[in-house]
Amino acid sequence: RIYNIACIPGDGIGVDITNAAIQVLNKLSSTLKTFEFDFKTYDWSSKAYLERGWYMPPDGLAQLKTHDAIYFGAVGWPAVPDHISLWSLILPIRKALNQYVNVRPTRILQGTKSPLEGCQVGDLDWVIVRENSEGEYSGQGGTSHEGFENAVATEVAVFTQVGIERIMRFAFETARARPRRKLTLVTKSNAQRHGMVLWDKVFYEVAKEYEDVETDKMLVDAMTVRMVLHPKSLDTIVATNLHADILSDLAAALSGSIGIAPSSNLDPTRKFPSMFEPIHGSAPDIAGKGIANPVGAFWSAAEMVRWLGQEKGADVLMRAVENVTARGFKTRDLGGERNTKEVTDSVCEEIEKL
Ligand code: NAI
Ligand code: MG
Repeated sequence: RIYNIACIPGDGIGVDITNAAIQVLNKLSSTLKTFEFDFKTYDWSSKAYLERGWYMPPDGLAQLKTHDAIYFGAVGWPAVPDHISLWSLILPIRKALNQYVNVRPTRILQGTKSPLEGCQVGDLDWVIVRENSEGEYSGQGGTSHEGFENAVATEVAVFTQVGIERIMRFAFETARARPRRKLTLVTKSNAQRHGMVLWDKVFYEVAKEYEDVETDKMLVDAMTVRMVLHPKSLDTIVATNLHADILSDLAAALSGSIGIAPSSNLDPTRKFPSMFEPIHGSAPDIAGKGIANPVGAFWSAAEMVRWLGQEKGADVLMRAVENVTARGFKTRDLGGERNTKEVTDSVCEEIEKL
């Protein structure tokens, strides 16, 4: 079986880690010999935008729809305002391809350390389910002035019952499939009295269908404290687009580094291709140095392989990654001394051995 994968490396370290992921995926398919990848790379980036004035061509989304999955690096570069780069590429893709779920697992990998005192491998093992289509990132709102004088701007969060219900169902299914069967709802329904209250209501409605899943509820501010002080008490977490965006960076840092965490932008109906990307950005501060941690990119690749139905391939890839970190082959953000290429080559060698 050949999978057609659209690759969008994007900017900065997005390019390094996408190349690393392609290398590892090719090694995986040539070793297992049960599937193959046909990669098509799209040069949709901020650099290209500065040269030609566009990120994606008018038929860009139609081109993406012809693939089995999309692999994304990162977009954003200092010379382009971040709201332009995000709204020209990643957000339109998520919306147009019905990727209303963003799954962000994280845990402490073998041979790595949490910055939390006494927090060992196994003590922090979470899946954050992020609503990916509406809420605070609906793009609704406006500003009264182009300049700064007495300017007023609104950023309207849109929540729909349909949108909330479908993310809740996905979150409950995710929680149910994990050993602890535990789901924590995160909102801010004390200060935000419309959309967040609807979130709470729908959560408890849907919960009635999942009596085997233990539930609890947190306000987002208190949640940051619980994540730091009681990481073991959490398992699966469901939150809005903005809240989960923030909490997942924290979650990644608490499990060792922002450089390890993956994300899957899923269309659960499977009508359109889903998109896989590490949660980190283009990291201009380390771009071009060859030191970016490729683990988040590999983990994202493994999630893609799993979504495509190749469970064994995904397991082999993750085991290879963890065998490599266990041996201390890590980039600097994880306290190691290896560069992107060394870690990537080690993962490839490991795949051959498994
Ligand atoms: P960032 O995630 O790019 O970097 C934050 C910090 O983490 C930096 O110090 C960076 O060096 C470090 N870091 C990130 N990934 C790493 C890795 N793989 N290995 C080692 N260290 C790593 O976030 P920042 O700086 O806020 O954003 C930079 C640009 O990326 C902006 O233009 C932003 O809009 C964009 N961005 C794009 C995203 C996407 O394409 N989905 C997601 C987040 C940010
Ligand atoms: Mg983010």
